[in-house]
Amino acid sequence: MTKTVFNASKAPADGGKQFLRVREIVEHFPGLSTFVFEADGVRTKRLAPQRAGNYIALTAKVGESRVTRAYTLASSPKEAEGGVYISTVKKAGILSSHLVDEVKAGDVIEASRPAGNFVYDAERDCAHVVGVAGGAGITSLLSMAKAAAEGSEPFRMTLFFCVQNAYEFLFKEVLDALPGDRVRVVYVAENGAGKGMETGVFTRELLHRYVGEECTLFACGGDALYAHVTRELAGDALVRNMKFSANSVTDREDEEGRVFSLTVHLAGKTFLIPARASETVMVAAERAGLAALSQCRVGECGFCRSRVLSGSLTADAAHDRRTEEDKAAGIFHPCCTYPESDAEIVMPHDPAEDLI
Ligand code: FES
Repeated sequence: MTKTVFNASKAPADGGKQFLRVREIVEHFPGLSTFVFEADGVRTKRLAPQRAGNYIALTAKVGESRVTRAYTLASSPKEAEGGVYISTVKKAGILSSHLVDEVKAGDVIEASRPAGNFVYDAERDCAHVVGVAGGAGITSLLSMAKAAAEGSEPFRMTLFFCVQNAYEFLFKEVLDALPGDRVRVVYVAENGAGKGMETGVFTRELLHRYVGEECTLFACGGDALYAHVTRELAGDALVRNMKFSANSVTDREDEEGRVFSLTVHLAGKTFLIPARASETVMVAAERAGLAALSQCRVGECGFCRSRVLSGSLTADAAHDRRTEEDKAAGIFHPCCTYPESDAEIVMPHDPAEDLI
């Protein structure tokens, strides 16, 4: 019998779910494809609104696992209003590989509503936004550039799109078609760029040459890019504030290969599942086929809020956003927490599982 009734998830009662049909898939390179999604017209009649910079979480059954991952949207608020979300998926990991290799036009997939904190805030941010995109990190900044161009967000934008090789400039035709009075795109390629582009990496000198007024900087592209931007712009008078897109939570090193037993209370049932010390509690639950609720996967949204009843867990420091009260109450986010011993936990159930 379940010892504790607990559901502190911040998700709405329906789990915030939508059902999307794949309208079109465009392959950029082998292993990198852009998906255009629309409402399935049955369970979802109309897409939920999107802010520029939002993500959606997709969920699918892959083998015995029920897996959720978050994908940034390249679509703009007006494109979402017009009936499509656009997202680019790189083949890596269980769900992305499933999407790239198995999913085809016409298939329906479960998704969250658009969400996320990587969005413009008129009270906090400058009217001039500088985007710094590293490689595939272009998607959320493309969304912001489109929003600036169509006027659904109130800022002007200068976008530095940084890659290693010039052939990696995804969506170049889309970016080049944006109106120049609202959006300027600067292409920067490390190994030599084409005509009208910059060769090298993003620098303070480039920022001053192309921007020259107070700005807010949004960067998306991973830790190495964020460390470089932070070093390069330390104390720079032009930059009022910076915002970096959250990195994914990854497996951690565990040389001993430890595997623990987790007793999981979920949806009124109790499950005993194995959990590797190297993987998050959420990944262990998914691997066991449990319909555990998650969305952002980076400790941000609170949808997966769970409670530990006994045992030891460790939160990933870079993603641990819990209050001291939550910690004292045994609340944790399985999406960014690793097991350190056998443990007994209570997790929220994904209500969309019952709709399928
Ligand atoms: S899925 Fe968002 S906090 Fe865990």
